[in-house]
Amino acid sequence: MNLHSGSLVVVLLTLSACGGSLSSADEAAALEKGAAITDASFQALSEKLQQAMKQGGPAHAVDFCSLNAQAMVDSLSSAHGASIRRTSDRIRNPHDAPVKGEAAVLRQMLTEWEKENRMTDVPARVELEGDSLAYYRPIFINSPACLKCHGMPGSTLDSSALAVISERYKEDRATGYALNELRGMWSVRWQR
Ligand code: HEC
Repeated sequence: MNLHSGSLVVVLLTLSACGGSLSSADEAAALEKGAAITDASFQALSEKLQQAMKQGGPAHAVDFCSLNAQAMVDSLSSAHGASIRRTSDRIRNPHDAPVKGEAAVLRQMLTEWEKENRMTDVPARVELEGDSLAYYRPIFINSPACLKCHGMPGSTLDSSALAVISERYKEDRATGYALNELRGMWSVRWQR
């Protein structure tokens, strides 16, 4: 019995040490799981955002997001048993700055997007990282509503929103976007 469980440990260690490649079935399953998690997360965040916009307009919604967005993403992580993050090459909240492999993946997505003439069809991807799966999915400025807080100062960006953004995020880089531009990506990790 002891011998048996001992060899199981060796097999598991060997498997995880080999790492690197995923079978196409595992990859497809991971892409599906990542899509489900990020769809649900987008839905949850955008419901709250729309509520806040309705209640008090863009400035109030910025206030609401600055106080709650991080906690909402963290509670989505617990609900899905995964680590869920949003990141970007032009961040608003310093907490969202790219970590580990994220900067490289972001660069690849941006390059791919430029190469495709900025068409919004950069695919999501999955990578094996140690004993975890990492899922990356681009986030686009997919609605004119995003521009109220991420658009062009002096035109699409709402001036009352900008006032609160400048106060809360001293090093904000997340304005100046146009519709359909690549804003950043979801980065989700779970144990394999
Ligand atoms: C009411 C203003 C508002 C609107 C509308 C809005 N955002 Fe944001 N967005 C924010 C704020 C504020 C943050 C920072 C939240 C925080 O502190 O965690 C943020 C953060 C983000 C982030 C995380 C990365 C970072 O820079 O910190 C992404 C990605 C993002 N927004 C995309 C979008 C997209 C896509 C839309 C449209 C569907 C959108 N936002 C609409 C205000 C807004």
